[in-house]
Amino acid sequence: MSTAALAELFAASPRHFAGSPLYSRLGLIVAADERLLAIAAQARAGQLPPNLLLASVHYLLLRDPGHELAAWYPSLGGGVVTGDPGPAFTDFCLGRREEIGGLMRHRLVQSNVVKRSAALRVGMAAVAAMTTEPVTLIEVGCSAGVHLRFDDYRYELAGRTWGRASSPVVVSTAWREGEAPADLDRLPVITDRLGIDLDPIDATDPGERLWLRALIWPENTAQAALQDEALRVVADDPPRTFAGDVVDVLPEVVAGVPRGTPVVVFHSATRLHVPADRREAFDAAIASVAAGHQLFHLSYEAPEDLEGLAFALELRRGDGWTHRLAVGDGHGEWMSGTGA
Ligand SMILES: C[S@@+](CC[C@H](N)C(=O)[O-])C[C@H]1O[C@@H](n2cnc3c(N)ncnc32)[C@H](O)[C@@H]1O
Repeated sequence: MSTAALAELFAASPRHFAGSPLYSRLGLIVAADERLLAIAAQARAGQLPPNLLLASVHYLLLRDPGHELAAWYPSLGGGVVTGDPGPAFTDFCLGRREEIGGLMRHRLVQSNVVKRSAALRVGMAAVAAMTTEPVTLIEVGCSAGVHLRFDDYRYELAGRTWGRASSPVVVSTAWREGEAPADLDRLPVITDRLGIDLDPIDATDPGERLWLRALIWPENTAQAALQDEALRVVADDPPRTFAGDVVDVLPEVVAGVPRGTPVVVFHSATRLHVPADRREAFDAAIASVAAGHQLFHLSYEAPEDLEGLAFALELRRGDGWTHRLAVGDGHGEWMSGTGA
């Protein structure tokens, strides 16, 4: 990516990081400074440099909050809203450029947003209306696997409470408009649950958990607390995960599932991170599951026809039938029915 294109990406931070006043400002600072852009240019192909750079800085600050920059981070007890964070941010980035560069080259944007479990819940209820058979659930881009334990959580959604009432993980998602799902407690029996990721995160490892924490925008302290709770649930009983690109790994994983049985393949905010020239192969790998199994493909991604940062929950069956079940925000804060 050219420096000009990178600068343009960072200049879009107020829109990209809507909801994070700090990142909106820091992004503009990077956009205007070639030294900072040179650090950001080290992100791996397909990764979003603004997310990766700001997460790398956040990670180092969380580990060692001694630098004056911490005063601007609500996650570190700071939150200075006046004044210019630019000098402190630039000083931190230039002083720690080697470590930041190392993180940029090796880490991935793997934010595991617990509230997106609401989309999976709505999707699985739709699957339950179509099959009474037990299903295998495969999550592509599972990160630490918090969605694979979605049925261990309590949901406050559409004016009702669903799921495990005593769960420490409470997913509160506003249902804005349109017909709400009728019954989120009717789910298919899940015989097995498996995750695939380029680099699965081990929820039992404190260093890995810190990276996930760093990926959460500094203002979103409630999201961080919810993530901690969910990671504890996952760490108690980690789902089986497979490392690698879904295109290479999914066929092997599916070969181990009894032929002819229903398989739900779910992904959220994953296709979004697949380089454009690999998306066709990504879609084809999932569609090929239908060759030997009854495929239910559930996705919660940002489709091209929706404005802004909206996501769509879509269900596709192996026979080509496709339906948009709901739309919502990328962080699972709200959803709406499509009226379809
Ligand atoms: C932004 S995270 C989203 C994680 C999770 N799906 C969620 O919604 O909270 C995207 C995840 O997809 C994984 N990923 C991206 N491309 C992938 C691919 N081709 N095959 C497998 N995993 C992939 C990344 O490693 C990362 O963990």
